[in-house]
This record gives sequence, structure tokens and C-alpha cells, in this order.
Amino acid sequence: MIEIHNLCVQFGGVKPIDGLTVNLTKPVVGLIGPNGAGKTTLLNVLSGFVEPREGWVKVNGELITGIPAHKRADMGLRRTFQTDQIAEDLTLLENVMAIADHVRFDSRAAETKAIMGAIDFVGLSHRLNRRGSDLSTEERHLAEIAKALIGSPKLVMLDEPGAGMSETESEHLEKVIKGIPAYCKAQVFLIDHDVELISACCLETMVLDFGKLLALGPTLEVLKKPEVQQAYLGNFDELEAAA
Ligand SMILES: Nc1ncnc2c1ncn2[C@@H]1O[C@H](COP(=O)(O)OP(=O)(O)OP(=O)(O)O)[C@@H](O)[C@H]1O
Ligand SMILES: [Mg+2]
Repeated sequence: MIEIHNLCVQFGGVKPIDGLTVNLTKPVVGLIGPNGAGKTTLLNVLSGFVEPREGWVKVNGELITGIPAHKRADMGLRRTFQTDQIAEDLTLLENVMAIADHVRFDSRAAETKAIMGAIDFVGLSHRLNRRGSDLSTEERHLAEIAKALIGSPKLVMLDEPGAGMSETESEHLEKVIKGIPAYCKAQVFLIDHDVELISACCLETMVLDFGKLLALGPTLEVLKKPEVQQAYLGNFDELEAAA
């Protein structure tokens, strides 16, 4: 459960988040909006990379505003980045192990189980020893998700995991994302421009439009709203098809 109250972020004259108040309760919540709408900025606020000028955020009833990013990661707030953070010269296994180094486990066996479990969950067990530089776009995005599942995440935030994927790859990604709440009991907050992926994964979706909440509700209802279609003028056909 994410509670956001009167959130304001300002960078000089730009206000990418402007008085946002919203409660997000569903297991997989979508966030859409045009380029520059403030989606990544909101995720940066949730993960502690950007401090808001005003307002607060609670996750599962706990106030997180003001807590440093690394402590939030310890608390189970985990994220992926719009530009993936896969180290080119490490293998997939080493990339995931590097995250596990920052997580406390009861035993070495529990750590190995978490690492291998997360890699298997995203469907990359056959790529364990591939170097980052040899992974495809899809595999890099899936590896990023595996990294976010190490430890005991409470909230997994995904910033455009579907970017650059084919239809078949998106279908696999959809299964992975939908499976996260059952896999590790975490809520998922999914940003993507692929409205088909959003409508397939998310019971609830919010729409940001230049820092303001344009809509929030059941995904298919939200996608049908004239104001949402207007904000996505260029993608009207895609929205219609998804709704
Ligand atoms: N660190 C920063 N300093 C100054 N301006 C910023 C910073 N981060 C974001 N912005 C501005 O805030 C606005 C929102 O950016 P943001 O990256 O959150 O958009 P977005 O919705 O994620 O867009 P996209 O769909 O293209 O990823 C943009 O005008 C952007 O230029
Ligand atoms: Mg973004």
C-alpha cells in the first residue's frame, strides 16, 4: 500500500510533481503518462533518489520520506532503472550476486537459494554465465527484475521494463510481473508506455500529466477516459485497442 500526500517536487522552474495525493492499494499498480509527465521522478521520490519539496509518502503505513535511499532498499523498497544497471563485464550470476552482497541472509544456503530462485523466476537460469555485454535487451530487463527480487522486497518498482521488447518477449514479461506478488509478497509499481502490458498486469492504474494526477482507477476504465486519451493523443489507437 502506497500513500502519497500533497507531494511536490521542484527542479528550478520545473515542477515534475505538483501537489499529488493518491493511495495505491492493488498488488500490481500501473503508472502511465506522456514523456516528461513525472513518472520516473515519482519513482525516484519513492526510492529516495529525489527528496520532495513538500508532502510525504508512506509504504505499508510506514513513513519513508527523509529516509536515505540505501536504508529504503534495506526496508524492502526495490527498483529497476529506465536505463538498466547491468555491469557489462560481470556474468548474469555475478550481477545478481553483487546485489545479494548488500542483503542480510540467515545463512549462505539462504543467499544461494534467493539468488538462484530470482534468476529462475524471471526465466534466465540458462544464461547464468553469460556476461552482461552478451545479454539481449529482454534478458537485461529480466536480470534487473531478478536483482530487485533479492532479499524480502515489500515494494518492487519497475521503470519501463517493457521498453524495446517484441510482442513475445512482452508476453513473458507480463507473466513475470504478474507473478511477483505471489513470489515474494511484494506490491508492484509498474511504469510503462506499453498500455497492453499495463492493462494485462495492473488492476489499478494512475495517469500522471505534467505532475498532476489525471486519473486513477481500474485500468480499463482509466484507459477509456477522454482526458486520458487526450493526453495520449499520439497513441490513441493503441489505447483504444488496449481498452
Ligand atoms: N534531476 C533533474 N533536474 C532537472 N529536471 C529534471 C530532473 N529529473 C527530471 N527532470 C524534469 O522533470 C520532468 C519529468 O521528468 P521524468 O523523467 O520524471 O518524466 P517521465 O514521465 O519519466 O518521462 P519518460 O516517459 O520520458 O521517461 C521533465 O521535464 C524532466 O526534464
Ligand atoms: Mg521516465
